[in-house]
Formats: sequence, structure tokens, C-alpha cells
Amino acid sequence: MKGYLYINGKWEEPVSGRYFPSYNPATGELVGEAANGSAEDAKRAIAAASQAFPVWSQMTALERADLMMDCYHRINEQFEQLAEILTMEQGKPLQEARNELVYANSFFRWFAEEARRIYGDMVPANSKDKRLLVIRQPVGVVAAISTWNFPQAMVTRKIAPALAAGCTIVVKPAKNTPLNSVALFQIFDKVGFPPGVLNLISTASSTDVGEEFLTNPAVRKITFTGSTDVGKYLIKRSSEQVKKVSMELGGHAPFIVFADADLEDAVNGVIGSKFRNAGQTCICANRVYVERSVKERFEQLFVDKVNQLKLGNGLDPETTIGPLIDEGAVAKSQEHVADAVTKGAKVLTGGKRAEQPGLFFEPTIISDVNENMLICTEETFGPVAPIMVFDTEEEVIARANNVPYGLASYFYTKDLSRAFRVAEKLEYGIVGLNDPFPSVAQAPFGGVKESGIGREGGREGLDDFLETKYISMKLDI
Ligand code: SIN
Repeated sequence: MKGYLYINGKWEEPVSGRYFPSYNPATGELVGEAANGSAEDAKRAIAAASQAFPVWSQMTALERADLMMDCYHRINEQFEQLAEILTMEQGKPLQEARNELVYANSFFRWFAEEARRIYGDMVPANSKDKRLLVIRQPVGVVAAISTWNFPQAMVTRKIAPALAAGCTIVVKPAKNTPLNSVALFQIFDKVGFPPGVLNLISTASSTDVGEEFLTNPAVRKITFTGSTDVGKYLIKRSSEQVKKVSMELGGHAPFIVFADADLEDAVNGVIGSKFRNAGQTCICANRVYVERSVKERFEQLFVDKVNQLKLGNGLDPETTIGPLIDEGAVAKSQEHVADAVTKGAKVLTGGKRAEQPGLFFEPTIISDVNENMLICTEETFGPVAPIMVFDTEEEVIARANNVPYGLASYFYTKDLSRAFRVAEKLEYGIVGLNDPFPSVAQAPFGGVKESGIGREGGREGLDDFLETKYISMKLDI
């Protein structure tokens, strides 16, 4: 597969004439190559998006929604081909790729429906000859910088609300998974959007294209999913032109199991949360806290079930856990296990790179972990579950909150009063109560503290692409 840039409704060669390879992390095989876009290409895409903005923003919400629903149906028609590309480029098992695509496509449907509900307000005035009106308008041209762990869902979670709001957009996909975006844009190309509404700039040099996004005054909003370090840089630089930002950054999710929980359910939950996408999820469980009295039983059940996971190529129907994205990711999992073991942790299962070709790390559980270990402060982004024990509710809440991150958190209990107490005290944007999979299009996804700014999904996800305008009218009344 060869991926070109998509600018102003046309597939284009990059100015450099160069392409970069995309490899399958399970096999090391070449999946294809993508255009190596530059700042100059990004500038052309931004100009196209600027020209298209008056056209797109002045279409009715219903007209925009119809085109978005067309995307939704066409994505469903190409579902299996898209799932296969997702597994080949990203590595996740085919069933997980299908789940991601259902999730990715749900943003088109949800935001197509929400487009018609961008309401304003009439505010009571202080004098009888005045009328005060509040309306909401699209922010303008949006630059979206996306990531490789959910190459389809993180892109549609940005594109769909932008389109619904009336914004035009330039997307820069991650360099490890550019062909997923190319496949998506091949669908958009058939839908009949006005040229320039959607633009794609793949690149192996994120800095170049990112710099154009940051310095080009036509870009009014930057939306980003990725690491907290890069997010901080983008926030700082966006302030130079006071661009709006939405930032979905790193997380360090606590997963708390109280003694009154259904242990089997909690074990299934932690496996889903921790090992989905081989642990390469911003909201995956990073610190598992288990109440002392159930620790042994929990660990036994957990180890038994993790030992049944099957590492392999995601295209093999037997596979339940795929490879990591690159050598750096394998090294980080290894480093976190080694650091924990040196400081007194015990490996209950796994613990090392798998003895097979490809970027595989064994699904791993380590016990007797404490907060002085690297694994408790840095995101592992790999299949390693660290277990700690706790004795009281107050203690575990304090420990769970004691990180600079605040994206997702999870806890398992059957006690209703505790459910409210704990959910309200956890300093996180998302709380999963007996629920390891909280992400849905209709709910706001995002973090507090160093995990981000703004929300994606839900009606809040649309607000982030809108400006508020106040119109004060003096009338002859
Ligand atoms: C993420 O890892 O940031 C996205 C995960 C999700 O939406 O469930």
C-alpha cells in the first residue's frame, strides 16, 4: 500500500518526493509506505482548510450531518479491510481491531446527531429595548495530531466533532500507523465533502509539521493525543498565538479491588483493562491495589487467567495479545520489571521478552510492589501488572491520587455507599466502577492534572470545537 497526502480534496505527492516505511510489529514485514510530508505540505493543507472553512461552516447542520452519516455507512461497508490494516500496522488482535473500529465509527454517528443540537441562549436584558443573544460558532481551522495506539479511534474522535461543529481540519497521523489514516481518507474521498474540509499530512518528521501547525495563524485550535511531555510543549507553544487546545495526555490509572468485590469479575476486569492492546492504552490499569484480606486469592485467580492469554500475530484467530509497537516499548517494560525486582518485587508470571521473533513481551504480573518503584510513577505502556496491598479506604484513595496524572481510575466494590464515597474522591476525569471499559462516544473522555485539558466525546467533546459569541441588540421597542 502506498499512501499519499490528501490536500484540498486531492491525493498529492509530498513536496520532498519522499516516502517512509510502515512495518508490521508482529512480523517486521513492510505493510507499505506513506508520504513524508513537510512544513510546506502542511502550509498548503492549512491554506486549503482555511478556504473551505466559510463553505463548510455555512452549510446547515443537517447537510453536514448527512455527509458524516455517509462516512459512517461507508466505514461499515469497508469494515473488515479496515480492521485488517489496523492489525497489520498496529499489531492488536483482529477482534480488538474490530472493537476499535466500532468505537471509532460511533463518533461519526454520535456527532452527526449532535450537530443539530448546537443551541444558543437568549439572556434576559436589563432594559426593555435590549435583547441579549448568545450563539456558538466553529473555532475555525483545526490541526489534529494523533497517536498510534488507537490509530482509527483517536483520529475519528477528533475529526467527527470538528466536522459537526463546522470546523475544517488537517490531520497528522502517528508515524508508526499512517496507512490507517490513508485508508480512512480513501473513504472520505468518496463522500463528496467540499474540497479542503479534510486534509491529511503524514510525515516521519513530526517536528516540522508540528511547527507549521503551531506558528501558522490560520490554525485556531490544536487537538492532540499523546504523551504529557509533548502535550506540555504544545500547550506552551500554542500560547504564543493563544490557540485553543484539547490535550489527551498520559495516565497512571489505579485499579482498586476492595474485599467486598466480586473477585472473579475484578480479575476479568483488570485483565481487560491492563492487557487490552498489550497494555498500550492511556487508560489502562497501571497500579493494582488489592485489599490485604483477598490478596492471595486475587493473585491466584489473576495468574491462572493471565497464563491463558496467547501472544502472537493479531491476524491469527487464536491470538489474544499482540506485540508492542517498537523496540523502545519492549525495553521500557523490561526496565520496569527489572527495577521493581531489584527493589523487592516478585514476578508471579511472565517478566521478560518472549522467546519468539517480533516485538513481544510476556504478559506479566509482579507482586509486592511499592511506590518507590519506577512502575508506579512512569507509564509502562506495556503488558506488566504491578500489585500492591492496602488496608483502608482512606489509605488507598490517598495512594491512588498521589500521582501527577488524573485520566482514568477503576475500583471494584459491591457497597453502594462506598461506591459514591470513592468515586467522588478519586481525582480522575474518568472513573470505572466495576467497569474496565468506560470509553463510549456519548460520554466525555479526558483527564485532570497533567493528563490533559478538554474532553473528547459526549456533548463536551463538541463544546471544545465551538466559540461562544454574545450579541447585544438595542431595538426600537
Ligand atoms: C487512549 O488510550 O487514549 C484511548 C483509549 C480509549 O479511548 O479507550
